[in-house]
Amino acid sequence: MIGIFDSGIGGLSVFREIRKVLPEESYAYFSDNAHCPYGEKSKEYIIERAREITRFLIGKGADIIVVACNTATAAAIAALREEFPIRFIGMEPAVKPAAQSTRTGVVGVLATAGTLKATKYIDTRAKWAQGVRIVEHVGQGFVEIVEKGMTEGTETDEIVKASLKPLLDEGADRIVLGCTHYPFLTGSIRKTAGLLYPERDIEVIDPAPAVARHLLEVMEEEGLVRKDGFRMELHSSGDSRQLEETYRKLL
Ligand code: DGL
Repeated sequence: MIGIFDSGIGGLSVFREIRKVLPEESYAYFSDNAHCPYGEKSKEYIIERAREITRFLIGKGADIIVVACNTATAAAIAALREEFPIRFIGMEPAVKPAAQSTRTGVVGVLATAGTLKATKYIDTRAKWAQGVRIVEHVGQGFVEIVEKGMTEGTETDEIVKASLKPLLDEGADRIVLGCTHYPFLTGSIRKTAGLLYPERDIEVIDPAPAVARHLLEVMEEEGLVRKDGFRMELHSSGDSRQLEETYRKLL
């Protein structure tokens, strides 16, 4: 069984891609929405949450876990790998493909404060950003609106614009989504970018398809692919309505 967790429903944007490459597996998804958002929480706090959720998912039968949260990956995946004897697949902002394809030479990264200050992100950035300029912004309020199901509309567009415009004003033509909640705002991000800079060829980059391919490779290597029929269990630490509704929309 594949365990997947996030601070909320963001990990469903990763599950959506995983299911395309592993359509016949059993899944257990955990939304830690009683403790969401993780973005501003301490590393120690996130490690403790990640441990508890990992124990829960292993108890449900998970034999591989996708940390479908950039903030939790940055804070906790190293600790999880040390403590638990199973494989963990994490998220990484897609700085590499963005740096390779930018035409303006400026890459914009949207992520949480926790991800942007983590050593893991700073190392990725240093490794791939040679010759291009990377500009960053926290997606202020993005996680909160996605958790409420507000993925479109005037209010959403205004919230998106406030964090996106500074990156575009710097010249960015690649926008890396460094938080798994943000892909649910791709429509608004594209629309806002098109209105602000209609002449620029702006691309929004989500790492989820690459993470899904990596998971498939690891599962094949480890003999974990079962193909015994699709199943999904949804769990959450708080109100599960938004999780269930978003999940239904994905199917
Ligand atoms: N979905 C998250 C991430 O990828 C966490 C957002 C949050 O809880 O602040 O970073």
